[in-house]
Amino acid sequence: MSTTAMTLLADYRIPDFLIEKTHLTFELHEGYTDVSSQLSMVRNPKGDQAAHAVLHGEQLELLALAINDRALQPTDYQCTAHTLTIYNVEERFVLHCKTRIYPEKNTALEGLYRSSGMYCTQCEAEGFRKITYYLDRPDVMSEFDTIIIADEGAFSVMLSNGNCLSDRIENGKRIVHWHDPFKKPSYLFALVSGNLSCLEDRFVTQSGRDVLLQIYTEAKDQDKCDFAMQSLKNAMRWDEEVYGREYDLDRFMIVAVDDFNMGVMENKGLNIFNTSCVLAHPKSTTDAAFQRVESVVAHEYFHNWSGNRVTCRDWFQLSLKEGLTVYRDEEFSAAMNSCAVKRIEDASFMRSVQFVEDAGPMAHPVRPESYLEISNFYTMTIYEKGAEVVRMLANILGPKDYRKGTDLYFSRFDGQAVTCDDFVACMEEVSAKDLRQFRLWYAQAGTPQLHISDSYDVARQQYRLNVRQSTPPTAGQAVKQALHIPLKLALYGKQGAQTLIIEGVNYGMETVIDISQAEQTLVFDNISEKPVPSLLRGFSAPVKVHYDYQLAQLQQLALLDSDGFCRWDAMQGLMRNVLNARIEGGDHTAAQVVLIATLKQLLERFSTMDAALLACLLTLPSEQYLASFYDAANPAVIGQERAALHYHIAVELQAQWQHCYDALAGNVQGLSAEAMAARSLRNTALSYLLDMDSAQYRSMAMQQFAQADNMTNQFAALKALVHAEHAQLEAKQALQAFYQQWQHDALVVNMWLQVQATRPWGDTLLLVHELLQHAAFDGSNPNKLRAVIAAFAQQNFIQFHRADGAAYQFLAEQIADIDQRNPQIAARLLTPLTHWQQFVAPHGALMRAALASLTERQLSKDVYEVVSKSLTVN
Ligand code: BES
Ligand code: ZN
Repeated sequence: MSTTAMTLLADYRIPDFLIEKTHLTFELHEGYTDVSSQLSMVRNPKGDQAAHAVLHGEQLELLALAINDRALQPTDYQCTAHTLTIYNVEERFVLHCKTRIYPEKNTALEGLYRSSGMYCTQCEAEGFRKITYYLDRPDVMSEFDTIIIADEGAFSVMLSNGNCLSDRIENGKRIVHWHDPFKKPSYLFALVSGNLSCLEDRFVTQSGRDVLLQIYTEAKDQDKCDFAMQSLKNAMRWDEEVYGREYDLDRFMIVAVDDFNMGVMENKGLNIFNTSCVLAHPKSTTDAAFQRVESVVAHEYFHNWSGNRVTCRDWFQLSLKEGLTVYRDEEFSAAMNSCAVKRIEDASFMRSVQFVEDAGPMAHPVRPESYLEISNFYTMTIYEKGAEVVRMLANILGPKDYRKGTDLYFSRFDGQAVTCDDFVACMEEVSAKDLRQFRLWYAQAGTPQLHISDSYDVARQQYRLNVRQSTPPTAGQAVKQALHIPLKLALYGKQGAQTLIIEGVNYGMETVIDISQAEQTLVFDNISEKPVPSLLRGFSAPVKVHYDYQLAQLQQLALLDSDGFCRWDAMQGLMRNVLNARIEGGDHTAAQVVLIATLKQLLERFSTMDAALLACLLTLPSEQYLASFYDAANPAVIGQERAALHYHIAVELQAQWQHCYDALAGNVQGLSAEAMAARSLRNTALSYLLDMDSAQYRSMAMQQFAQADNMTNQFAALKALVHAEHAQLEAKQALQAFYQQWQHDALVVNMWLQVQATRPWGDTLLLVHELLQHAAFDGSNPNKLRAVIAAFAQQNFIQFHRADGAAYQFLAEQIADIDQRNPQIAARLLTPLTHWQQFVAPHGALMRAALASLTERQLSKDVYEVVSKSLTVN
């Protein structure tokens, strides 16, 4: 087992050396690559003037080392597995270093590696040290020159960051020289060489700079780049309009690669994308995947300012760039599509995934205090909760001051590596608001809970809301302080939203209350009847709200609330009422009657409502989310009762589903928001109808499958058939036809794998074993691992939690195997096992045993950290 020490925020020290200029030369050979570096190093005037120069480096073969053209003697330096120390260096010197690396053998996909023949890099967070010795930390920012040398004719493109200075042939070699005028940390370095085609376009910035936009892919995928290009141009325009941020180079490049641990990487001027996040064509891509492409292209583009121009001082500040950039991409997507639906999706994700992380053994603050392996900290907390924290700041300050704050932040810290606190300080400075208590959001882990109760005084025409906040203890943080929580609310009477008057001040129909004490009471005057409170509107803070709603109140909000999130939340409340009663064996009939009546009313107005919002309102909470409400969740019962309610809704509202399905048939072409919304609603209806064992519905689905002219409809039909136990014959036929049709398209084949791995009935583990043997599977490709193993473990609650624990053991074995090749992916696959404490016996013990079995293996730092933390009982 690894004994590597933790990295602590408290141990942060400024670098003792800086690197003013970085010259890199890559000689690409079949089988190996030689990297020569020339680093203009200088002592940091603020650092330790007596320090030796200590550079990071891993898995490097050192070929040559010199300072200012003097070759170093063995006594001048020392190499360990992770560092190169050079003794007694001057104030200023040029370090020359030559290393040999083996991209062909790099299965971890970190550093320089090969994917389908092309060379590409992934350096964030600490991959650059696998390329050459360097000060591989984000607070060392340098100006990079990169020369790439390969055999003439070997590659059609040889790319790196910035601008291309020259591209020439010499003695049978092609030599390409790139220069990036902007200082950057090594994690933003990128290199690509391959035989790629390119889609080009141009964008003129608001100040008149003409930017060349390029998307590089394999030739066969060139017809799938138009949507990403349009998304890029939309994002560039949006960032100018909303944040006043303009692009700064003459060229912006995107490259698509098949083998990629993450989704996308924001390297300066040369973003590298997983093919799954850039390629899109209506025939082969679902609407959901289109929307993912749009938001991801925007996210990485937005990093050019929030991340690249202003970067992180250290990796504890990761949320400074990721939280801010997620908030920016969420707002962009909301502007491009339905705001209400986007907010519901993000809130739902927070509640079903981040809240679970924040309640489990891997809980950590938005700004963590320690880590063993930084790759494990690209979490829902850093990203999604971090985005919610920025959103709260925006809400507390209001749009004008928030914009002043970001303007100040970008101008003050341009070209620097800074902290989360620097960001908050800008917000404080422009608004003159005291954000001292707010800063706790960065330091305190766990999901705050608001317990809200109310009373109404007819005589005084007064309504009182009592709000109590508390945060449960989390790993290593027993005691929690009260937070500054913006609580947006409205009060509904029979005539609609009431005017809010607090201490004589009129706040209109909706307001944000700053909750800051452990307990406080809000008094509303001039209220003529007991209202229904609409709480946490727009999901104004990442908290859990407990208020004891009556069924009729939930129904009222579900039908009438003007806030999309609250409407959806009220529906979720109605559904949970029924499901909790079913799961706990209580009487669910009254709640179920109200739920059905509400669903019926909603479905009857489907032609006058936002169809995408309606589809959200009609969707049951996931099993994972339901499980998160129990200390000892019983997966089989949860799965069974959720399926039973789904079936009940299908049967009770059969006529409405059928009508909805038929009525929306004509109106579903193209990629407009309306068309996507109509498809989403129609396919929701289809999934309910397929619950019923009826030949008529099966043939309806088969027909949709066969006639679809877009992947959304084709795949929805396939999924409905494969997931319906009574449709085995049709499913088999459809699966075969789908594979026949799409076997040449890796991304669609992944969907084919995924739809099977998520089948809720039968022996899916056995099926998964078969899929792993299928010619279409490739264990070295992260997308394939996600399509089969992650899909099975994370999106197939019922089958993953089979009673004999075989799926847990299966996952552990797969992880042990994958860990040998790709530790980052292996560690990510562990997540579902880490929640063992949530489940009833024998599940918890079986999950724990699967985790424990891993401790007997040789583990990477990545997997070791997650396993050991999740085995520790608090
Ligand atoms: N900087 C990250 C990519 C990254 C993550 C590199 C982890 C190294 C380790 C990038 O900006 C990112 O956040 N990508 C996300 C998608 C994004 C839309 C949230 C991803 O890859 O999943
Ligand atoms: Zn990011």
